[in-house]
This record gives sequence, C-alpha cells and structure tokens, in this order.
Amino acid sequence: MAEITHDVERAFAILKAGKLIGMPTETVYGLAARADQADAVAQVYEVKQRPAFDPLICHFHNTKALTPYVKELPEQFWALYERFSPGPLTYILAKSERVSDLITAGHPTVAVRFPRHPLTRQLLQQCDFPVVAPSANLFGKVSPTQAQHVKDQLGDHIDLILDGGAAEIGLESTIIDLSGPQVKVLRLGGLALEELSEALGKTPEIAAHSSSNPKAPGMLSAHYSPGIKILFGKIMDNLKLIDPERTGSISFCQKIQGIPARNQRVLSPRCDLKEAAAQLFTALRSFDPAQIDVILCEEFPQEGLGRAINDRLKRASVA
Ligand code: TXA
Ligand code: MG
Repeated sequence: MAEITHDVERAFAILKAGKLIGMPTETVYGLAARADQADAVAQVYEVKQRPAFDPLICHFHNTKALTPYVKELPEQFWALYERFSPGPLTYILAKSERVSDLITAGHPTVAVRFPRHPLTRQLLQQCDFPVVAPSANLFGKVSPTQAQHVKDQLGDHIDLILDGGAAEIGLESTIIDLSGPQVKVLRLGGLALEELSEALGKTPEIAAHSSSNPKAPGMLSAHYSPGIKILFGKIMDNLKLIDPERTGSISFCQKIQGIPARNQRVLSPRCDLKEAAAQLFTALRSFDPAQIDVILCEEFPQEGLGRAINDRLKRASVA
C-alpha cells in the first residue's frame, strides 16, 4: 500500500528507478513515471486502465529541459510561456523523435506542461528525463485533488504518494494546441479562457467534445464519473422528479430549497469561481452511493473557471 510522504528525495529515488509515484500539482494529482522508460510508461496505462489511444502529458521543469523533445517552439508558445508557465496550461507541440509513440498514442504531437507546485518543481528540477503524469485516477473517474484520493483509488499499485496538500486550482490544466495553423483550445481547464484570449489577442477556437473518436484524444464526452447519476442544469426542474432525501446537490453560492442540508454542497458561499473550482472534485467524491441516488448540479456562470466547471459537470452527467 502506498505511503503518503512529504519526502521529495525519496519520491525522486523511486521515480528515477522506473517506478510510479503520486505527484502533487497545482491542478490535480498526477500518476508520474519517467517518460524515457517504456516499461514505466506502459505501467501508467495499466494502473489507470487507460486505453492506449489516449496520450499522456510530459512534465518539465523549464524550457531548457523541454527543447530536445520538440521540433520547434513557435512564437506563440513563448508569449504564453512567459505569461502562464509554470502554471495550469498544457501546450500541444510537434514532437521530436525522442518522444515515443507510446506516450503520444502515435500522434506526431506531444503535450507538455510546466507545473508550478513547489514540491513538484523541486522534484522535476532533479530529473534529467521528462515525466509523464496523467491525472492519478482510474480512467473515466473523478481526478484527485488530495493525496488520500490517490491512495483510495491507486494505493495498491504504487509505493509512494508525495503529499503536496489540497490542490490549489482543483481542475486539470487548460490544453492549447499550437501544432497547427490555427490555435485551438482542446480542453477548458485551470487557466481561464479570458486570460488566454487576452494573451493571444483573440479568442481561440474551442474544439468540440467527441464520445469515441480516438483522433480527438482528451475530448471524450463521458468522463469524471463519481459512480452516481448526475443531472446537470436547472436544479428546480429536476427536483420535482425525485426523492429529496436521496438526492444530493452541487451549487455555486446558494443553498437549494427542498434538499436536506446534509446532502448539499455549496462550493463557494462568497460566489468566487476559483474557490468553487478548487472544491468541485472533492464535492463530487463526497456522496455515498448507498445513500444518494442522484446528484443535481447547478449550471455555473459561463465565465472564468465557470466554463471548465460546467464542462466537467456536463461530462460527468453523460457517464
Ligand atoms: O492538469 C493536468 O493536466 C494533469 C496534471 C497531473 O498535470 N494531467 C492530466 O492528464 O490531466 P490526463 O492524462 O488526465 O489528461 C491529459 C489530456 C488527455 O485527455 C489527452 O487526451 C490529452 O491531454 N493529450 C495528451 N497528449 C495529446 C496530444 N498529443 N494531442 C491532443 N491531446 C493530447
Ligand atoms: Mg485525466
């Protein structure tokens, strides 16, 4: 069973030896392995039960460490890097031959990210290899925002989880594709679209979700399942149809009339979307399937991190 620890040196030693660890980031916890060892990468897919068509993100300390793994760094990359990295933004770039097909699922591009969590920066600084790290949950389930979440789902398969506390942002990174002629957002996430648009000087296209198209990885519509049915949007309309005693709710800043207080999760009583984002996944995990049949989720304001919150809830409701 995995040990939860603050010891970065032990985490580094295990990672270096080709084994998997739980790694904190400011977005969500990752299941980390060295990217230059095929066995370690293969184990990530196995432990997560992740289909081989869904590629992994490579994590780096800085651009010096990244350069050997990409063909080129376009102008737009530098503008965004200077502003947002280290931080919750993942870049899709043309890969060099040093990145294996196992990592990219055969795509000619690679996803790269520079996390800003201080413990993970200490770890990555020592790595003379890239580190792959998908969110440390079973495929299709809710991403972990605390070390204990990782232990609950994957603790039997890894030796160590580096404890970085509760994730500051609580939503996965925003993914931007810089590999083609048109800049595209492939996943809404921890960096708000407004901030990206301002830095780019225009609003980028947002790629649509797909339910089964392996050519559009990262956009599967059914995802983030907490194992309980989710109804998204218009709480009061949905409430008429069900037994309130066995109903949970997730709302932004106000309580929902008609649902028992014990079943309610109000994500930010002061109406702050960042605070709500940081609470979302913990709230989704907090319901007991033996007591709750359905979770009613309010639609959040479609601005700032509210867009990514709505995206996750909509997908959780498809599962
Ligand atoms: O915040 C995050 O990004 C977290 C932390 C741990 O860094 N990681 C994360 O990884 O969310 P994961 O594997 O759960 O999600 C990565 C997404 C996948 O949906 C995958 O399809 C997409 O990135 N992706 C990876 N490589 C890609 C590529 N070359 N082209 C398009 N999408 C890609
Ligand atoms: Mg994930």
